Amino acid sequence: MKKVAFHTLGCKVNQYETEALASLFRRQGYQVVEFSDKADVYVINTCTVTHLGDRKSRQMIRRAKRNNPDAIVAVMGCYAQTSPGEVTAIEGVDLVIGTSDRSKVVECVEDFKRQDTPVNLVKDIMQAREFEELPVLDYESRTRAFLKIQEGCNNFCTYCIIPYARGPVRSRKRDNVITEAERLVGEGFREIVLTGIHIGAYGRDRDDGYDLAALVADLARIKGLRRLRLGSVEPEDVTPHLIATMADNRVICRHLHLPLQSGDDAVLEKMNRKYNTHEFTRLVNSIRAMVDDIAITTDIIVGFPGETDEQFDNTYNYVKALGFSRLHVFKYSPRKGTPAANFPGQVPAETKEERSSRLIELGKEMGREFARRFLGREMEVLVEQRLEADLHYMEGLTDNYLAVAFPGGNELKGEFVTVKLTSVKEEHVFGEVKADWLKKWANLV
Ligand code: 5AD
Ligand code: SF4
Repeated sequence: MKKVAFHTLGCKVNQYETEALASLFRRQGYQVVEFSDKADVYVINTCTVTHLGDRKSRQMIRRAKRNNPDAIVAVMGCYAQTSPGEVTAIEGVDLVIGTSDRSKVVECVEDFKRQDTPVNLVKDIMQAREFEELPVLDYESRTRAFLKIQEGCNNFCTYCIIPYARGPVRSRKRDNVITEAERLVGEGFREIVLTGIHIGAYGRDRDDGYDLAALVADLARIKGLRRLRLGSVEPEDVTPHLIATMADNRVICRHLHLPLQSGDDAVLEKMNRKYNTHEFTRLVNSIRAMVDDIAITTDIIVGFPGETDEQFDNTYNYVKALGFSRLHVFKYSPRKGTPAANFPGQVPAETKEERSSRLIELGKEMGREFARRFLGREMEVLVEQRLEADLHYMEGLTDNYLAVAFPGGNELKGEFVTVKLTSVKEEHVFGEVKADWLKKWANLV
């Protein structure tokens, strides 16, 4: 049997697309193996959101070649899309595919004849107008599934390369989204996570008024779906209708990832973000008033060109005052072709490092503070895996994104378990499952 191995860098959209390709390869009779194994084909799904994505992508390409010098090495995704020249120049690359035509990969690999220069299938993504269907046909695990509803972004934040890597907004057809969701539910998935590059822009490339809130409301009605989680939503896209839909519907997880990027209005403006801190605060307050116990998480970029100590302090203090249950902190990375790469006042690496460490620390403390609010309560946890640090424990997430660990065994994997939360340590909330709950569960299965 022919073997294929994948390595995915970056975001959930990439993870979804790798799953989709893996299922296409399986249908063609391939066995999917670990990346460290000897495979006939290696697919590296790359990321370019920061220079670290580029670097790791190049490392993995070289590693594939070392694992099997005779293998076909295919490179796809955002780095391949934006820098096909750099990718084709890496020794050992055979096929370069960007962020379109990925379903052709299997065909290309099958017809592949090694030649002196790599085959370059990268197209001008800025001309793309239709959502490319690339459904996931089968999954390896059955707990949580990603569902891609949208591609591309038209926002052009001044630091961001993504609009050039993914092209303009294209929304997946409603019926195709619903059909895939129904299939996932039918296959036993407990949680569906909606993903896309800019999901809040869902529907904006059509003029029928069918938007993210309408889609979410329709998905939440699917019989048997236990949890629906939204990926990152831009603050300006959170409509009253979306908040009301979340508030009315217990299937929709009480969790919103709202990328703030900076807590300083002058920096936000230079970033070409569409809101200021006043508007962001109002939004968060109205969400919290409507959806009890909601987890709000965010992304922050430190060291944007020209960011002064004072502006960073504004961000730090703003983030602290508003309170988030998790922070993703990014050190600004100049991306060639974006306006901010040429802005004056590029911030030295040490300053970025220091600002980043301070915010990461704050993020951890805020996470624990959020978690402490739930001590003593019983919460439903979707069990995912064993806790690495102690194999007698299992871990999983509540709908509001608390990472909960409790004593238990692998038989609970993929189950909803009611856990009484007892303590907060580092990044986990610890708890216990009541004996009577376990007895009831054992009688049900
Ligand atoms: N440098 C650092 N972080 C970036 N992001 C996007 N572009 C850059 C960049 N050039 C971050 C943003 C975004 C997340 C997905 O990546 O915070 O929300
Ligand atoms: Fe990049 Fe801004 Fe679009 Fe997000 S909204 S993908 S940060 S351009």
